[in-house]
Amino acid sequence: MAMIKVDNLAVSYGHGHDALRVVKDVSFEVAKGETFGLVGESGCGKSTVLGALAGRNKNWGGSVVINGEAALPKRTKAQLALQQMVFQDPFGSIHPRHTIGRTLLEPLEIHGLDQRPERIAQMLQDVGLPHNFRYRFPHQLSGGQRQRVAIARALILKPQILLLDEPTSALDVSVQAEILNLLKDLRDREDLTFVLVSHDMAVIAHLCDRVAVMQDGVFVEVTTKQNLLQGTVAHPYTKTLLDGSKGYVSPRQRPDSAVQRPG
Ligand SMILES: Nc1ncnc2c1ncn2[C@@H]1O[C@H](COP(=O)(O)OP(=O)(O)OP(=O)(O)O)[C@@H](O)[C@H]1O
Ligand SMILES: [Mg+2]
Repeated sequence: MAMIKVDNLAVSYGHGHDALRVVKDVSFEVAKGETFGLVGESGCGKSTVLGALAGRNKNWGGSVVINGEAALPKRTKAQLALQQMVFQDPFGSIHPRHTIGRTLLEPLEIHGLDQRPERIAQMLQDVGLPHNFRYRFPHQLSGGQRQRVAIARALILKPQILLLDEPTSALDVSVQAEILNLLKDLRDREDLTFVLVSHDMAVIAHLCDRVAVMQDGVFVEVTTKQNLLQGTVAHPYTKTLLDGSKGYVSPRQRPDSAVQRPG
């Protein structure tokens, strides 16, 4: 059974005459444990697809089935807990005046979970942060550490799905691979399902099993990691994206090697 099944998804912003349909007719499935990538130029609708999946954008039509259950624009608490988002900029998504401990406590309170100190301690350990970081504030952390906190917050409710919107593109190159490897480890350990938005073909090739190439609100191609690595893609736009990342995704790069960058 697919963990995510999307059929004929259409998403709009605004209403009536001002309504603008930015995602037009998108269908895809993601199996449990799979990582499905979304690539495409700025403004093509990648974040909008994630927003509709997450229940953040309610102005959509079509069918979304998560873990066998139809997801309506308004979600139940349990449906919301099943999938969590991680954004590009952890500075924007973590409350600047809350300690890390409080940031991790909040979802536990909202969802009424017990053993809160234990869960927080375990989560910090899982993302590779020292236990005493719960007393720190976001400005006392590096970009990579902040993104670890964002991942911890996303995972503390034990979701099955992570929706990752450019999770490493705000980070220094040296830190990007660390965060990608952390995500990969957590995914494999917890059998998580990922939908990953990235403009970086090396990131896509590192983490994704399949990838949808998006242009102007539609999927022009859904291809595999293998095809990306071998350069055997069908659509001219996908070729352009691959050409733009020459040297990052090469036919010689082994599928499971770490993200390689020249220089
Ligand atoms: N809140 C909003 N209100 C109106 N239009 C919006 C809103 N958010 C996004 N859009 C428009 O919808 C389209 C798709 O935006 P979206 O953010 O999904 O693109 P994206 O592929 O994620 O781009 P990027 O790579 O720059 O993040 C764009 O034309 C954008 O201007
Ligand atoms: Mg976006």
